[in-house]
Amino acid sequence: MRFEIFTVLSILLLGSLGLTYYYPAYHVVPIVIGLLYLRAIADVLQKKRVIIRNFPILGHFRYLLEMIRPEIQQYFIESETEGRPIARVFRSLIYQRAKRQMETVAFGTQLDVYADNYEWIEHSMQPAKITEDSLRVLIGEKQCQQPYSASLLNISAMSYGSLSKTAIQALNRGAAKGHFYHNTGEGGISPYHLEGGDLVWQIGTGYFGCRDKNGNFDSKLFESNATKDAVKMIEVKLSQGAKPGHGGILPGTKVDEEIASIRHVEVGKTVHSPATHSAFSNSYEMLSFCQELRELSGGKPVGIKLCIGKRSEFHDICKTMQDTGLLVDFITVDGGEGGTGAAPLELTNNVGTPLEDGLTFVDDCLRSYGLRQDIKIIAAGKVFSAFHVFKRLALGADLVCAARSMMLAIGCIQALRCNTNHCPSGVATTLPKYYKGIDVPDKAERVANYHSRTMDAFRELCEVAGYDHPSKIERASVQIRLENRKTSNFAELYPQQ
Ligand SMILES: Cc1cc2nc3c(=O)[nH]c(=O)nc-3n(C[C@H](O)[C@H](O)[C@H](O)COP(=O)(O)O)c2cc1C
Ligand code: SF4
Repeated sequence: MRFEIFTVLSILLLGSLGLTYYYPAYHVVPIVIGLLYLRAIADVLQKKRVIIRNFPILGHFRYLLEMIRPEIQQYFIESETEGRPIARVFRSLIYQRAKRQMETVAFGTQLDVYADNYEWIEHSMQPAKITEDSLRVLIGEKQCQQPYSASLLNISAMSYGSLSKTAIQALNRGAAKGHFYHNTGEGGISPYHLEGGDLVWQIGTGYFGCRDKNGNFDSKLFESNATKDAVKMIEVKLSQGAKPGHGGILPGTKVDEEIASIRHVEVGKTVHSPATHSAFSNSYEMLSFCQELRELSGGKPVGIKLCIGKRSEFHDICKTMQDTGLLVDFITVDGGEGGTGAAPLELTNNVGTPLEDGLTFVDDCLRSYGLRQDIKIIAAGKVFSAFHVFKRLALGADLVCAARSMMLAIGCIQALRCNTNHCPSGVATTLPKYYKGIDVPDKAERVANYHSRTMDAFRELCEVAGYDHPSKIERASVQIRLENRKTSNFAELYPQQ
């Protein structure tokens, strides 16, 4: 192939030189072909890419097409109900709700209602009425001096660093406008988190914002941050659905003065987040640690976040709570399908219990140990529409939080480049050339709009189903089609243990 390409280029070069001899105005043509010739020589001499070496010039088209494949797929190929991780129909819905555009659909559903896994709610002949205050959930009322009244829909954990400063500001201001909470993620509380929104401060294994020089938990530092007015609850992160058990490394080159002061680490020094916590090593110590955090924070609710892995380990936590009376105030259950900025493929695809299985298990487990009435369950995982909120509540959650739909609300276009730092929409990047494109007041409005419209739609779903309170939604409320057109519901699929 190389021989053919060089032959063609040689002929074109000679031909174009002849052309300029008679028509000097076309002198640019041999220059361009000459440059291609040089490129072809460079292609053959390089050793990194075999396709380009074997197919000089032509090989570049393969890499170009590979680069723009997601965009071609998204703009020209995928249908309304396709698109991973978020189907086009939901991306459009989130954009429309965020921008307060028309969100009705014409001519009927595009879903195949006879296909396997089609889900629906059975409506009632006696629609109910729901009041505004029933759309909030009180967390920590049993053992906290400062229980928190949370919205049913909130912003899930995403750190400053994985999201840009303008993205964090927009999310936080949106949370303030709509009166729902914003989870900091494990990267600590940045100044961009302090724009008026209620915070859930997440503590990961790196103890960012509450660590000593050796990376261990520092109670004094914790107290000074946890008692801030903005902090309403504390969440100890045990694992995340997209990468359970995976630690993290923040390279020294990314640790500038700002990051160093937020995370309480040394400027320019690489920081490791280990896979496990150093503050505890078993259930009893973990629950005692949560109790210590509750006291240091002045009685704010303290919970854990996890993706269910080995079930016996969760049973152990429940048993220890039952035996000692040391309870967490909430448990956030993340699904294996959860999102991340960056994670190893095998962990993302094949480790961690999917949300529906994990959520029903946690609900059942807490019930069987007699703990359910004292511990609220928060579900995280693919909440895009009000139906998703309804479904999570049917499967055992008291409230939900959403990460990726909130990213879409502030302009994410699902370009899937969060792990490159070159996010075109300025959401998941530290580069000013991208994040400066985000207009914070406008995007904050969109976050609040997305939240309020989704909650309006959720309220209507409850009402048409005949429930005057979200707590009345149960597993049997959601029907599902199985194979061969058989139908079932979640109570049959996930029988309460
Ligand atoms: C960019 C990004 C960063 C995240 N960072 C964290 C984090 O710091 N801590 C955490 O517990 N989960 C983190 N998550 C997971 C989310 O909080 C959430 O649990 C998961 O994405 C499922 O929700 P979703 O389907 O609404 O995105 C992150 C997710 C994304 C997309
Ligand atoms: S637009 Fe940015 S945040 Fe959204 S998926 Fe792409 S890279 Fe990630």
